[in-house]
Amino acid sequence: MRRKLVAGNWKMNGSLAALVELDAIAGAASRTPTVDVAMAVPATLIAPAVARALGLMVGAQDVHGAPSGPHTGCLSAAMVREAGARFTIVGHSERRADQGETDADVRAKAARGHEQGLSIILCVGETLAQREAGRAEAVVTAQLNGSLPEVFDGAWLSIAYEPVWAIGTGRVPSVGDVAAMHATIRATLATGIGQRASAVRILYGGSVTPNNAADLLMTDNVDGALVGGASLTAGSFMPIIAAAAAISEGRPAK
Ligand code: PGA
Repeated sequence: MRRKLVAGNWKMNGSLAALVELDAIAGAASRTPTVDVAMAVPATLIAPAVARALGLMVGAQDVHGAPSGPHTGCLSAAMVREAGARFTIVGHSERRADQGETDADVRAKAARGHEQGLSIILCVGETLAQREAGRAEAVVTAQLNGSLPEVFDGAWLSIAYEPVWAIGTGRVPSVGDVAAMHATIRATLATGIGQRASAVRILYGGSVTPNNAADLLMTDNVDGALVGGASLTAGSFMPIIAAAAAISEGRPAK
């Protein structure tokens, strides 16, 4: 049985003052032992967040694919680890689009992060044009095959399926489409590591809110959520944690 993981992603938002939100979220996390709760904060907030948000897994939003070197402005996996990060997101579609990150870049980032003992949330997802052309599953499968590290397992790797057109838009795929994509991702993982693929958590991300979280989290092969906008305040993130906990504990989630 896979434990559900509810991960937030503050993107380029937040400040020291905003860490009061994290205090409240960490409090909720410590009261829900059946669910793993994580927050990817801006790198400048990793150390202060770790210092005060006990009980919450704090992580980074990206690491470089090289262990060190002449990469002005970038951060290595060892650096974010030293700051206290326990995981990192890699391959977010905003970085694939804004920074031109390729699947090979994402694979290197995941491998460097794992070498440093970080858990990895590896993001994949199709654009609207790709979905409308009927290519969503082919695109996501190719992204996965290109960006999965050569060796991986569910002890440290999670996949986040995030349709690009659902991120920050309020649009969400049907639960049927999410189930189909997550099944495809599970099958793709199994071609690499066989039975052990059943231990890899597959998160859904893209406009997850307190209103739709329960339906998404009850869907087959949805083992958690990666949440952007709704992770910025405790008021909108805590109900998503609560929905995951209710489902995990067999209670009504809505
Ligand atoms: P959103 O972002 O929840 O604001 O749509 C999700 C993400 O980009 O991870």
